[in-house]
This record gives sequence, C-alpha cells and structure tokens, in this order.
Amino acid sequence: MPQPPPRLVLATHNPGKVREISALLAPLGVGVIAAGDLGLPEPEETEDSFAGNALLKARAAASSSGLPALSDDSGLEVAALGGAPGVVSARWAGPEKDFGVAMARVERELAASGTLDRSARFVCALALAQPDGAQAVFEGQLRGALTWPPRGKNGFGYDPIFVPEGQEKTCGEMTPEAKHAISHRAMAFKKLLAFWGAPA
Ligand code: IMP
Repeated sequence: MPQPPPRLVLATHNPGKVREISALLAPLGVGVIAAGDLGLPEPEETEDSFAGNALLKARAAASSSGLPALSDDSGLEVAALGGAPGVVSARWAGPEKDFGVAMARVERELAASGTLDRSARFVCALALAQPDGAQAVFEGQLRGALTWPPRGKNGFGYDPIFVPEGQEKTCGEMTPEAKHAISHRAMAFKKLLAFWGAPA
C-alpha cells in the first residue's frame, strides 16, 4: 500500500485550492508546498479531459521539483451541450472571471439547443505524480440538474445554478459542510485517501 508522503507539491497557482487541499491533507501529516511558492511555471492545460489536464500539471510539478506532486482539475459538464463547458469551464467566465457571464452562456446555449434536458455533473480529477514517473488519477463526480435564475451566495463558479441529485437547494445555497459531504472534490479525495490506506 503506498503511504502518504511527508510533503508534496500542490500543482496549482490558485490560493483557494491551496488552502482547501492543505487543510484536507494536514490530518495525514502531509505538508503542502504550493507550486507558485517554488516559482514553478504553470503549464498550459492542453488536454481534452480532466484527468489528462490534472496529470499534465502533476507531472510537470513533480519533474521540476523532484518531489511528489498533486493536482486537481475540475469543471461542469452539461449533457445537452455534449459535455460543455467541460475542461474550459473556467474560461467561459472570461478574463474577468465573471461566472454571471459563464452561467448566462450556459443558459443561452441550452435554450438554443432546443432540448429540455437540464442534467449536468461536476467532475473533479486529482492526479498524483512521483518524480520517478509513477502516477495515479482519482475521479469524483456530483450529478445534478441546472436551474435558473441562479440562487445562493455560497460556493463559487457554477454553484448557483446547480442542484445536486436528491436535493432542493443549489450548491450556492448549501452550507460549505453540506456541499463538502457530497462534492465531486470530496469523492475524488476519498479515493486518494483509500489509495494511501488512510481513514476517510
Ligand atoms: P480549474 O481550476 O481548471 O480546475 O477550473 C475549475 C472550474 O470549474 C472552476 O473555475 C469552476 O468554474 C468550475 N467548477 C469546478 N468545481 C466547481 C464547484 O464545485 N462548483 C462550481 N463550479 C465548479
């Protein structure tokens, strides 16, 4: 069984992810160093899958730091849009990172598609890469349906239009604890912890 490493590089330049993932790994005794703090470059996300982009980021950080590296890639897939925005979920918010713009685009494209199918899912891929080339990917998903108008001020990104299966509130209306109990990121983390033989 692989053990959790004493420290790893987190292959992200997003301070929110660094905070969230450091807190999740701290109880395992895993120290986290942010790729940005090591001055590592941020590779361009050129793959067409979450797993591919997560691996690309983790491999780049592991080979340039010589330490194990962990990365996370996530997004929203809308069934009636053939899985869009998918790996470009963040880009739909434009240079201003305005998710009002991104959510309006999803609404517009769904209306244009002429279908009534509002099903969607959030996906998270976590990739772990070792400097010697060993690697593993853990994926989690959260299924749900889209709703308009956007509701709730919690969370981020597409949360205000996403109602998880079996729930009535959008992720934007749920408490962070309630979202964390079912989220795609939490599910991917559970798989990583199981890989390390650590209690979830
Ligand atoms: P990444 O930083 O390339 O992984 O981009 C992920 C993007 O997907 C975010 O900017 C959000 O737009 C979207 N996303 C991922 N997870 C969530 C979530 O839990 N709630 C809302 N939006 C999410």
